[in-house]
Amino acid sequence: MFELMPLPYAETALEPYISAKTMQFHHGKHHRKYVDTLNELVEGTTMATTPLEEVIKNTAGRDAQQPIFNNAGQVWNHNFFWSCMKRDGGRPNKAVEQWLTQDFGGLQEFKNAFTSAAVARFGSGWAWLVLDEDGKLKVTTTSNADSPMVRAQVPLLTCDVWEHAYYLDYQNRRADFVSAFLDHLVNWDFVASGLGVEGAAREKA
Ligand code: FE2
Repeated sequence: MFELMPLPYAETALEPYISAKTMQFHHGKHHRKYVDTLNELVEGTTMATTPLEEVIKNTAGRDAQQPIFNNAGQVWNHNFFWSCMKRDGGRPNKAVEQWLTQDFGGLQEFKNAFTSAAVARFGSGWAWLVLDEDGKLKVTTTSNADSPMVRAQVPLLTCDVWEHAYYLDYQNRRADFVSAFLDHLVNWDFVASGLGVEGAAREKA
């Protein structure tokens, strides 16, 4: 059975940029519901004991298994999203900044690209920084529960742009939420650890 990942910080940790009330609904209600629904859908099948990432890869693009993919994807995406943030985040180390400069032109240029993509994502979805197959960092978005993982891209950072992620605090102002995320909340140490492992593996290959 899949379990709701506990938040890696207190519900108040990301205030004033994300309120405790948003965290209570987003983690305690929305994320929990995806976990519960996934467990109901896979109960009694081999998928109940399959690692979450494998469930996502095995059900991607299969119409009959779309509900499992959607809920498994949302469980994973939210686990990843919580890990991408911390109190007083917002500034990458030198090594990560060099990657951003090489592939985007600089930290600010990366932020501009990420914000534009996040705002342009129609409806519900996710904005991502990924390491692509060609070894370059890219900004991309996915709709609903979709994941870059199923396109052989390595997720390094994500921002949830479903309305439930920001509506209580920002109403319709998605761009303000994304700016607050980039300027104050990004856990760049988490990004660096993903990039360190995956970047080294890509350079070797
Ligand atoms: Fe969400």
